[in-house]
Amino acid sequence: MPDNSLGKIFRITVFGESHGRVVGVVVDGVPAGLKLSEQIIQAELDKRRPGFSDISTTRLEEDKVQIYSGVLNGFTTGAPICMMIENKNVRSEDYEEFILKPRPGHADLTAYIKYSGFNDYRGGGQFSGRITASFVMAGAVAKQLLATKRIQVLAYTYQIAGETARIPGQLEEIKINRDKNPVYSPDGEAAEKMIKKILDAKSEGDSVGGVVQCMIIGLPPGVGEPVFSSIESVISKAVFSIPGVKGIEFGSGFKAALMKGSEHNDWFKYDESGRIITETNNSGGVLGGLTTGMPVIFNVAFKPTSSITKEQKTVNLESKTQTTIKIKGRHDPCIVPRAVPVVEAITAVVIADLLMQAGYFGQTVYSDKKDLKYQRNMIQEFTLRILELFKRRLDAAEVLAKIKAERHTELRDIERENTLISEAVAYAKRIGLPEEYAASLVRELIKLTVKFEEETVKKSLEPSGG
Ligand SMILES: Cc1cc2nc3c(=O)[nH]c(=O)nc-3n(C[C@H](O)[C@H](O)[C@H](O)COP(=O)(O)O)c2cc1C
Repeated sequence: MPDNSLGKIFRITVFGESHGRVVGVVVDGVPAGLKLSEQIIQAELDKRRPGFSDISTTRLEEDKVQIYSGVLNGFTTGAPICMMIENKNVRSEDYEEFILKPRPGHADLTAYIKYSGFNDYRGGGQFSGRITASFVMAGAVAKQLLATKRIQVLAYTYQIAGETARIPGQLEEIKINRDKNPVYSPDGEAAEKMIKKILDAKSEGDSVGGVVQCMIIGLPPGVGEPVFSSIESVISKAVFSIPGVKGIEFGSGFKAALMKGSEHNDWFKYDESGRIITETNNSGGVLGGLTTGMPVIFNVAFKPTSSITKEQKTVNLESKTQTTIKIKGRHDPCIVPRAVPVVEAITAVVIADLLMQAGYFGQTVYSDKKDLKYQRNMIQEFTLRILELFKRRLDAAEVLAKIKAERHTELRDIERENTLISEAVAYAKRIGLPEEYAASLVRELIKLTVKFEEETVKKSLEPSGG
């Protein structure tokens, strides 16, 4: 059965071939009101575009995205979003030889067998790395959605041909350093060594592989759906859809097999906002297939590009004889740098879907649309939602007051109230709310709740009529 779609609610369907007319994607299930434009998608696509340096294929494509549906006046409408890029710089004649002489390490042979030779062999057809442009377009939408919840996905080159990057502790530093070199590595020194290894391999008619590391920051704890949609299995399935991927490991990954329990266990502690964090992150931010609230972190291993100019052995499918092949055409001597935005994108897609499944997003998202009526409506809606939550707070306080009355304990607990205020202030800092506003609001909530609790207790002590 064909399977070109991914996701349950935030669902993407990819289409196109390397040398066909277009490569594109339909993204369904995106809430309305999300800010989106061709510029936003283009910024992500440009990171994947080849042809800017000696370390990538010389196939120069404009990759100019066009949005055909689902976006109006800069915001999503709730309808499926269809996006495409055209294939312009194609040299299909380079691939004719591979119809009967499949490239070792590529999908030419397996596709030929599966589709009885009807498959589009040009440029690797559907099996080309070019198809991942559709992942990046969809990922740009997912990233916009995740940003509304302050969730970020960040990938970078961790290792190429044995040259390993030192990863800075600060997220901003990773981001800034990563974008300074063509291999997208946050370690400038290691990046130079990686580039040299790629160019050396290229000059020998060869290629190299490496590792992309990816982090998801800001995910709440408990994301993941047991048992078959654990966060690791969902991410792994998506990541293995990227051509050239050979392995994935979360946290300490395969090294975990060599560690003792006392070394591997991540010890729990509270941070200043009352959130449970861990001292280490060997689990990669996942326990029981659910997020812990720590960054989800994983490594993706890419094989060396299979299309190399060095002579290799293959078979001739017509004469059924052994032969050799020297691959012409324009290929990436290392997939890794161009795969960085792809890993980031497909991860964002599956995380957006998991969060939608868990009810983190509704059918619309709040947007900063400059429209008086819309913003007034939003203020009214948010006020009603706050009132509803306040009612639930009072319901809980009522039960608590009764428990305290039965136990003859004091209604007020000043120490707990102060902890609540300081945790609220720390939380406000995290979500970008002015701290003094959070403190004043929580103080007012406590005041009203105490009043309500006192009245509840008073009422319960009054003799019942009759
Ligand atoms: C961004 C990207 C670019 C790629 N560029 C090339 C390339 O230039 N030449 C090549 O042979 N393979 C390239 N690949 C990998 C092949 O598409 C892949 O090896 C092939 O489809 C076989 O699939 P498999 O390696 O997953 O088994 C690229 C992959 C990605 C993600």
